Amino acid sequence: MDRSTQGLEALRARLEGEYTRKTPGSRALFERARTVLPGGVTYHIRYLRPYPPFIEKAEGTRVIDVDGNVYDDYWMGHGAHILGHTPDFVREAVCEASRLGSHLGYENPLAVEYAELLARIVPNMEMVRFTSSGTEANMYAVRLARAYTRRRYVVKMEGGWHGGYDGLHTGVTPPWRGPESLGLPEEYLKYTLVVPYNDADSLEAALKKHDVAAVVLEPVLGAGGCIEAEREYLREARRLASEYGALLIFDEVITGFRLALGGAQEYYGVDADIVVLGKAVAGGYPGAGAFGGRSEYMEMLDHIARPNPRERSFHGGTFSGNPVSIAAGKALVEYLAANRGIYEEANSLWEWFRRRIDESCEARDRPCWATGAGSMVGIHFTRSRPRSAREAHEARWGTGVESLANLYMRVRGILYLTEHTMHLLPSLRHTKKQASAFLEAFEAFLDDLEEALGGRPWTT
Ligand SMILES: Cc1ncc(COP(=O)(O)O)c(C=O)c1O
Repeated sequence: MDRSTQGLEALRARLEGEYTRKTPGSRALFERARTVLPGGVTYHIRYLRPYPPFIEKAEGTRVIDVDGNVYDDYWMGHGAHILGHTPDFVREAVCEASRLGSHLGYENPLAVEYAELLARIVPNMEMVRFTSSGTEANMYAVRLARAYTRRRYVVKMEGGWHGGYDGLHTGVTPPWRGPESLGLPEEYLKYTLVVPYNDADSLEAALKKHDVAAVVLEPVLGAGGCIEAEREYLREARRLASEYGALLIFDEVITGFRLALGGAQEYYGVDADIVVLGKAVAGGYPGAGAFGGRSEYMEMLDHIARPNPRERSFHGGTFSGNPVSIAAGKALVEYLAANRGIYEEANSLWEWFRRRIDESCEARDRPCWATGAGSMVGIHFTRSRPRSAREAHEARWGTGVESLANLYMRVRGILYLTEHTMHLLPSLRHTKKQASAFLEAFEAFLDDLEEALGGRPWTT
């Protein structure tokens, strides 16, 4: 074993020792969980080595584990809590709605009011339908695009994550093609094309060659490492989709209500045809998903205009439009609409943060690079600043650094996911003091890492 590997292992062992001492309750829960939950978790991305902290409660921008350890939370319910965990006014709206019935199963006035609100604030969303997750919203959006264009192919980006829907469950991780999961036949992906992110030429080649119904993209890659699209690329994607007759679907499950009130369309000044929302759309409560666009497209779902089911695009779901998710989302979005100043403040805080991370990396001969936009931050241990998920993967200078960073920060009371990709989704309520504490811990990590490695291998 060479000296740097030995150094890294010693650092990991020290950190794991510290973590284990602080978290006996989580350890015990994980042992129980392993017997009844596959892998001991409810979603594999929530697993952290050697075992995840089991979180008992959340307060604002912090979470507290079963052993009473308090963490600054940079995961924020997968990015759903853009105003911190469960603001009082959202909880009150939910209590009031659920007193009248948690799930009415009939049309309800709240859904109409919320649809009206979304139509006012989300550009190009004249009509909307609610789903129970972002995955579902993407699935129905793709089906709608196919129904409208009467075409088959869908283009998605390498590193793009749109949930586990078959038709988009490819090209998320290396080698960027083929099914991402067992149980997903290759044939199901026959009409899905994967192209590199931030690469308009590849997009055009795909559009030229196939009858493409939709181009689906995240305006800022989320799970792919919080990597921003170049503005010019987004404009080109818009132009090319129109030129070749495909619909442009923005998956704004993360960027929606986060980059700006009107999401990435407003932030970048680029129009989408169909917008997919999730996470914050239900105010931090379950059942978070919606998709919408101009009435010309949404009319494909209209059973009155199209009484024959074979002549329309299906959407539905037992819990779609339920008053709990709707009341929560509506309360949150109303608050954001009344407090637009919050965006400028938060976006400039995280812009500053990215700059400071970059300065810290620069001062150490560049072990890392910051990416992102607004309050989405990626930190990559790469030899260059990645413009795509592929670059973020291929330009890495070491292995296991990401997971060590996660453990290091966790021991210091800073929590985020995943241990493979350092991407942060702070709320708009995180403070500069918290951001500074993160920077301090991160710089300490870089210094301890260098010491463990016995030098700066990223420079060679
Ligand atoms: C951009 C994006 N789209 C879609 C999804 C899937 O949403 P859900 O997990 O609610 O199904 C996610 C979830 O992380 C996401 O980040």
